[in-house]
Amino acid sequence: MTADLFPPSYPGLTLLPGFARDNEAALLAAVEDVVAAAPLRQVATPGGKAMSVHMSNCGAMGWISDRHGYRYSAVDPLTARNWPAMTEVFRELAARAALAAGYADFAPDACLVNLYRPSTRMTLHQDRDEAGFTAPIVSVSLGLPAVFLWGGAARADKAARIELLSGDVVVWGGVARLNFHGVMPLRDGVHPLAGPKRINLTFRKAL
Ligand code: SIN
Ligand code: FE2
Repeated sequence: MTADLFPPSYPGLTLLPGFARDNEAALLAAVEDVVAAAPLRQVATPGGKAMSVHMSNCGAMGWISDRHGYRYSAVDPLTARNWPAMTEVFRELAARAALAAGYADFAPDACLVNLYRPSTRMTLHQDRDEAGFTAPIVSVSLGLPAVFLWGGAARADKAARIELLSGDVVVWGGVARLNFHGVMPLRDGVHPLAGPKRINLTFRKAL
């Protein structure tokens, strides 16, 4: 099929299908450690609406949201402790994926853990709470498949739909660093390793 011979390409977005497939079990085990120390929770947007994903973080900084806005914090507001450290398994994978996309020396200080259950979605948004935008975003999918929405620089730009499977990694940066993106409501299903859920790890350089 032509679609397979000539997959669409998106400036600034690198798709790395199956890049983390060999690490799926180790990554899911590491997620369990993170959420044992920093429990998954639903956060509110500044507008006061609960986001449908459940979130946690690991690394020196964690992304948080409440009525005061979106920002990074070294302290987990739920536990009043620092976020759990970013395991070497995570850092090594994120750096290797960034390198494969053309970014040498990616040293993330934040890893956002997002839990999606069937019908959970993520509306179009930009990742723009970081102090700078030279470093890319590295996003790792685990568990149930999802349809990733890849938009443009403006919210109204038409978004491409990209199927992401467990072990797929996407990296965006450069001209696309501030592109809008999101996730369609998760379909029902049960993943053999992860069960009825999807985990997304988003690695960022926050500071
Ligand atoms: C995000 O944009 O924070 C999450 C993207 C995803 O779940 O694939
Ligand atoms: Fe995002």
